Amino acid sequence: MKIIRKIKELKTHLTKLSKQGKTIGFVPTMGYLHEGHLSLIKMARKENDIVIASIFVNPKQFGPSEDYKKYPRDMERDSKLAESVGADYIFTPTKNEIYKEDHKTYVEVEEIDSIMCGASRSGHFKGVCTIVLKLFNIINPTRAYFGKKDYQQLVIIKKMAEDLNIDIDIIGGDIIREEDNLALSSRNKYLSKRERENATVLYKSLKLAEDLIRDGKAVEKVKKEAQNFLLKNKYVKKFDYFDIRELYTLKEIKEKYPKNILIAAAIWIGNTRLIDNFIINR
Ligand code: PAF
Repeated sequence: MKIIRKIKELKTHLTKLSKQGKTIGFVPTMGYLHEGHLSLIKMARKENDIVIASIFVNPKQFGPSEDYKKYPRDMERDSKLAESVGADYIFTPTKNEIYKEDHKTYVEVEEIDSIMCGASRSGHFKGVCTIVLKLFNIINPTRAYFGKKDYQQLVIIKKMAEDLNIDIDIIGGDIIREEDNLALSSRNKYLSKRERENATVLYKSLKLAEDLIRDGKAVEKVKKEAQNFLLKNKYVKKFDYFDIRELYTLKEIKEKYPKNILIAAAIWIGNTRLIDNFIINR
């Protein structure tokens, strides 16, 4: 496996590979890889000739009071893990390699970028779309893989690809969970032992909402019960949202449940923001 830091060097490799007609699977990450990322790399390995994972903690998707500086970074550990599941290249550029001082261009996917995570993380998806499009332009992959834990991100990237005629298959990988059902996330590392034990409250609240929906309870009642359940746990400092939406459009469900439903939530356990979601097909 090759580790590449410069765009020019990566392009030299990519030109050779495209002349050979190779398909390229791309897994964008911010590093501190876990089984969720590795499952995406494994999927890319099965479906493509060449697999490239990027590791870049993108400053443009963090707000000024967010965890950009403390976001976990460990290249040595990440490169071993990526290699163990068959990545051919890691592209890990510096901030200056990606963003020149006079960077002025951004990509926005209107409306769906300002609900859910976008409501409390203003500008977050603008930063995500900008880096993802830049990486797409540098790598020009055949397929790109994103985890469904960031389900809103996946919907936004698919919309960006559709709207901007980006000819890359955008593929979602299932959420990978710990044994007690906590969704894997690089941010789980921030949790203290007691916080970690209590973090399962998020999964439990989604499960509660799913059961209530299947019992035919009204949307507002489901949300209220799930929120009360969350806030009863003293480790839950606050929640940013607990939403029930149509799966593909992310439109809020007011009354009648559609066939495909997303239940998604973002909560704070101490100083750590965690997100998770359930997909229900009725
Ligand atoms: O999901 C992530 O880790 C990031 O948002 C991504 C897609 C790598 C862009 O920085």
